[in-house]
Amino acid sequence: MAKQMMRCLISIPRISRALSPPPAAYLTLRAQRSLATDTADTFSDGRMMQKKKKQQKSEEKKKAELLAVKRKKEKRRTRSEKEFGSTISFEFHSNENHIPVMLGEVVDVFSSVYLRSFVDCTLGAAGHSSAIIQAHPELENYVGMDVDPVAHAKARACIDALLHSHSHLKAQTFIRNFKHIKSLLADVDPRLLHSGVDAILMDLGMSSMQATLKAEDILNCWPDAEVGRVLREYGEESNWRLLQNKIVQARVHGGLHSTGDLVDLVRSATHGRGGRQGWIKTATRVFQALRIAVNDELNTLEKSLNACFESLAPGGRLAVISFHSLEDRIVKQTFLSMIEIDRGDGDVDVEERGERDIRKTKDENNAKETWIRSMVHGRNGTILTKRPITPSEEEEKLNVRSRSAKLRVIEKV
Ligand SMILES: C[S@@+](CC[C@H](N)C(=O)[O-])C[C@H]1O[C@@H](n2cnc3c(N)ncnc32)[C@H](O)[C@@H]1O
Repeated sequence: MAKQMMRCLISIPRISRALSPPPAAYLTLRAQRSLATDTADTFSDGRMMQKKKKQQKSEEKKKAELLAVKRKKEKRRTRSEKEFGSTISFEFHSNENHIPVMLGEVVDVFSSVYLRSFVDCTLGAAGHSSAIIQAHPELENYVGMDVDPVAHAKARACIDALLHSHSHLKAQTFIRNFKHIKSLLADVDPRLLHSGVDAILMDLGMSSMQATLKAEDILNCWPDAEVGRVLREYGEESNWRLLQNKIVQARVHGGLHSTGDLVDLVRSATHGRGGRQGWIKTATRVFQALRIAVNDELNTLEKSLNACFESLAPGGRLAVISFHSLEDRIVKQTFLSMIEIDRGDGDVDVEERGERDIRKTKDENNAKETWIRSMVHGRNGTILTKRPITPSEEEEKLNVRSRSAKLRVIEKV
């Protein structure tokens, strides 16, 4: 049974830390400890010496492998060189201690675009939105949305506080899921959907319950009713209400963080009903429900990215910040499929070519966008970040939450 559950859960991304490989620091520490614990008398024994050498060699090999993996990872991204805090002059009206991730980098992404319209798909505390509104006095139409009514209300207050100095700006905000971006734009102003918007931002966030993709988050963070819905609709579990209550109660004691935790919960919740077969079947339905919910979130993200790209005006840009490797992979792959690369390689390494190809600029002389390192050209657009931009070392130090953030940007033809 345990094996069966384990197999089932492996396909649910990141439910258990125990399933992940140990971090590099742990392996290094382990290597150091094992070396230190060897005492001098072991060296007197030739066989022990040989064993020791072999062990050392294998530890060195491990270290080299870890270093190689780290270097490879470094290569697949572009660490931002932007000075952290260089956008500090912007006015923020949020009373939260919220630091928008890669704020300067996001502002740079849109700085050369003449922004008449901008959509923030994930308002949050309106940190990015506030900066972009202030950086673009030419902005005429602003649309913001968030699924969370509390976030929406706070963001609305921040945007309102900026409107005194942007009197010509039409700013509308909605409690809405970004998957409805096209119908929302059609309601706001059909012309906006017809001509397309100049820029769209999606900050998928770490803290957001709605944007996370892990079964663990569904169990420990999602609203009670949503947990119940997942069990009922995706698991077709008749005992969904009892399980929902148990799952929510478990949060008081720290939540559910492993396969075993969830199996124990199901077992105790179904105790006396249907014996062994009963709880195993229930557990299977629960795991199935979680898997479908996670996949559903991923599909929604892919569909939403496509809807955002379709909503862009020619030359418009879509920037997405993700915090999870699964999300980032979807952003990367969806961008590639959106642009439709011609046969042959669409890659353009800007640094090698020594030129930039940004069509829509405020000022042709100002076309140098130093944040762009390498692009991928396609029939329908250009990926401006062949490798994702990651926060500067300084930002990572000051804001731990930013560490896993990746920024990818696409421009429509
Ligand atoms: C990290 S926060 C955004 C922070 C924001 N960029 C700022 O600077 O303050 C992510 C936000 O996205 C919202 N969100 C998550 N999934 C969403 C969805 N599918 N549609 C709309 N909003 C969503 C969350 O409620 C959360 O407020």
